Amino acid sequence: MFGKKKKVDLTELDRERLPVHVAVIMDGNGRWAKKRLLPRVAGHSAGVSTVKKIMRMSSDLGIRYLTLYAFSTENWKRPKEEVSALMRLVIDSLRRELEEMHEENVVFNTLGEISQFPDEVVDVLVNAKEKTKNNTGITVNFALNYGARSEIVRAVRKIAHKVEQKELSIDQIDEEQISQNLYTVGQPDPDFLIRTSGEERLSNYLLYQLAYAEFYFTPVYWPDFTETEYKKALLEFQNRKRRYGGL
Ligand code: IPE
Ligand code: IPE
Ligand code: MG
Repeated sequence: MFGKKKKVDLTELDRERLPVHVAVIMDGNGRWAKKRLLPRVAGHSAGVSTVKKIMRMSSDLGIRYLTLYAFSTENWKRPKEEVSALMRLVIDSLRRELEEMHEENVVFNTLGEISQFPDEVVDVLVNAKEKTKNNTGITVNFALNYGARSEIVRAVRKIAHKVEQKELSIDQIDEEQISQNLYTVGQPDPDFLIRTSGEERLSNYLLYQLAYAEFYFTPVYWPDFTETEYKKALLEFQNRKRRYGGL
């Protein structure tokens, strides 16, 4: 996964001013393939190489959390051949890369309702989480069958259940309580969101967690999003003035 050769000079980046948590909407695989007269699935395969590059560079930079949107709750609407090709890709890539990710101290995690996937997919995901759970390096969250609205509904239900069981009073429901019932429990909110492919929308991604994130949109398709492009994005992040409502 991580490979050995370093392609870009990272010394221009100020290590003290990097995001702690980067969230990415990996978009444009289909259009990348179409431009090359290839089937859409070829775009998804090419996208896996970008995932490896971005994971490695994030880890090298000491970024603590990387969250990648890999399959939304709305992506079930795609033709079933594409959905199963995506599942296959998840299984094959993870089987192939898991050992190296583990050696690189990566914590593999998922966000979303993975139980709705076929058993083989669930097994591979659960195994990867279990194997890497005590690692201390970067946490990589793969958002799989993830939708922010359903995540919020789930959190509300969990909280209501606690109230019903008298484990929690209504007065104790606060922002922290909501955060602790999202899939990202225990993690800081993303401070930087990147979306590739020119689309400028959230597509039901991390609606609660992105409240104060800086957004970065690039026309580059995900398979073409290189280390140089990532560096460009991070440099832009470092030039943003974050005010959080203050002056
Ligand atoms: C993003 O690429 C990957 C997934 C949604 C799984 P797309 O498949 O959405 O590519 P475009 O947007 O059609 O180009
Ligand atoms: C968002 O991309 C989901 C993922 C990247 C997994 P989509 O391509 O599915 O989003 P829309 O349809 O353009 O909003
Ligand atoms: Mg898309």
